[in-house]
Amino acid sequence: MNNILDFIGIKLNYSDQVFRPTLISENCAKLTDFRDKSILDLGCGIGPLAIYFAKNGAKEVSACDIFDKHLEYTKKNARLNEVEIEIFQSDLFSNVKKKYDVICCDVSGVDKKVAELTGWFPEEVPKADETGSNLIIKVVKEAHKYLNKAGILNIATTSFSNVDSIENNISKNFLNSEVLIKIDVPFSRRLKENVKLLNEKSFKKIGDEYYWEFKLLKCSN
Ligand SMILES: C[S@@+](CC[C@H](N)C(=O)[O-])C[C@H]1O[C@@H](n2cnc3c(N)ncnc32)[C@H](O)[C@@H]1O
Repeated sequence: MNNILDFIGIKLNYSDQVFRPTLISENCAKLTDFRDKSILDLGCGIGPLAIYFAKNGAKEVSACDIFDKHLEYTKKNARLNEVEIEIFQSDLFSNVKKKYDVICCDVSGVDKKVAELTGWFPEEVPKADETGSNLIIKVVKEAHKYLNKAGILNIATTSFSNVDSIENNISKNFLNSEVLIKIDVPFSRRLKENVKLLNEKSFKKIGDEYYWEFKLLKCSN
């Protein structure tokens, strides 16, 4: 089945086999400083961020993902929106050859169990490990090799990962980090039904409602 969704005014083809943009994607798009900059969208999914950056004044946009179906959709969606983006397959930075002013990273940052419980990730979409933080930590450790001088890494994290370890690695690899936004997101029905299976550190309860936390971090030197 092939459908079209609207992502902040951009039309995107999607199907039930690919990852659909979320609240996190929307915040990455709106809060990243990309105008007149070269930017890499790492873990591009069906292309929402890369296309948004290209449509709204980035100097040069590249997009990569490990999953070939996502790359097919990103190519199709770039054509649909008439933007020029360099699109390529890469396991994190494995095939990245250039340096960028900005890297915007929304790779899978949710522990495997939560990814399975929530249904956020269709079956074939690559997921993080049981800590939820393995991919993000690798990106934090390697990003400086792919950033221009004064380059910025924006990275999305969730409380369904080892946040302490991510923040510890950020402070080892970058001089500055700033929280661009922090949002308490109410649990979906499916998450609520499975709350007993979750690590207690990954959510908070206020009254009868449960919340997980999303943070977008800006790292620089
Ligand atoms: C949470 S989704 C976000 C997708 C997109 N940024 C968005 O906002 O819709 C995470 C993306 O990371 C990709 N991914 C997972 N492991 C990866 C890896 N090792 N290297 C590159 N991309 C990866 C997945 O295929 C997926 O597209």
